[in-house]
Amino acid sequence: MSDLSRRGQRLIESPPAAEYLREHFARSAAPYDPELRPDGYIPLCVAENKLVGDLLLPEIGKARQIPAQALSYDQMIGSRPFREALAGFLPRFTGRALRPEHVAVLAGAGSVLELLFHVIADPGDGVLVPTPSYAGFWPDLETRDELCIVPVHTRASTGFRLTPELLDAALGSAGRPVRALLFTSPDNPMGRVYSRTELEAVVSWAERAGVHLVMDEIYALSVFGPTPFVSAASLRPSLGERVHLVWAFSKDFAASGLRAGVLVSENAAVLAAVDGLAYWACCSGHTQLVLGEMIADAAWVDGYVAAMRHRLGEAYRQVAAALTASGIPFLASDAGFFLLVDLRSYLEARSWEAEAQLWRRLLDGANVNLTPGSACRIGEPGFMRLCFAAVPSQTAALAVDRLARVLRA
Ligand SMILES: Cc1ncc(COP(=O)(O)O)c(C=O)c1O
Repeated sequence: MSDLSRRGQRLIESPPAAEYLREHFARSAAPYDPELRPDGYIPLCVAENKLVGDLLLPEIGKARQIPAQALSYDQMIGSRPFREALAGFLPRFTGRALRPEHVAVLAGAGSVLELLFHVIADPGDGVLVPTPSYAGFWPDLETRDELCIVPVHTRASTGFRLTPELLDAALGSAGRPVRALLFTSPDNPMGRVYSRTELEAVVSWAERAGVHLVMDEIYALSVFGPTPFVSAASLRPSLGERVHLVWAFSKDFAASGLRAGVLVSENAAVLAAVDGLAYWACCSGHTQLVLGEMIADAAWVDGYVAAMRHRLGEAYRQVAAALTASGIPFLASDAGFFLLVDLRSYLEARSWEAEAQLWRRLLDGANVNLTPGSACRIGEPGFMRLCFAAVPSQTAALAVDRLARVLRA
């Protein structure tokens, strides 16, 4: 007998981690190696940028003079010096000045989302999330916060365009109080950067509907295409009480393991309530110190961001060329570490079962893990996310060859 609480038991019975992630961790023990394991596992299912470690590690290694303060308790929503450094750094993409008292730091964007939604919505409340979407929003909002995500499905036939009408329809049929819209730009999994006009439509819709707008801008600097990033923070003279920004070092600084996420909000009550929970999700003082020193060096950040974007762009072009050469259709991407491949014509039927079978066939036949569209809550089966920056570009090209071979068989 496991002797767990009911909620503990629920976590065992339906673990928050999706099947593609469980497969990922199981197969990661036998990874691809050109000499040692040429048929080894190639993970293209996790949104990580593995192309810039050589730029970051020397900079992170520089922070050797650790003051005693890093060993002590400090403010749980981030030390004052780190929040000041962030208030200086974040305007690179927010397009407006920020005050340190409007910035909170927690253990990654996932913790920021969980705590923020904990204090703006009650169990059973609805949160609108346009799809295709980042798969992790479901565990972030539904596991401990016990919220209910109401997906707003966009359609492939319209280029997955979100419209106010789709938001209205989702709000009208939610069947529960809807407290917020969670919107991501640049988005995951399509790598789409939303224009000022598109964002204006989203912000005005949230204002009209009287709901919080949580903007996930975690890929703000990871833009390699021609569309410039626009932050929702730049659209109004102030964020007001209901617009909140989420960002983290996990993506733009390829440091998902350091667990440093940021909340920007001008709502003093939201920040005070988040502070009440921050102790259970705070970012280590040592990490804050190292990252604070890193972002304070503006010249280094300029060079890093330029090089990071260049490498992402190169990696994208190489994988796009490999997909084109193999005849695998995909949606063009402008940002992030991924693109959506369109495998609808390879499905045996237009069903989620057929998509799951195809994903399994690719995983077992090619030893390549893609994120299935079902995990991204796409409104129709047959699309899968391919994370091209998760491995060196040659390895990503090899993965595409392997996928193509299985798809042709
Ligand atoms: C859109 C989006 N938000 C949040 C996260 C979670 O980031 P973190 O690792 O900082 O919790 C991810 C990670 O993939 C993401 O893609």
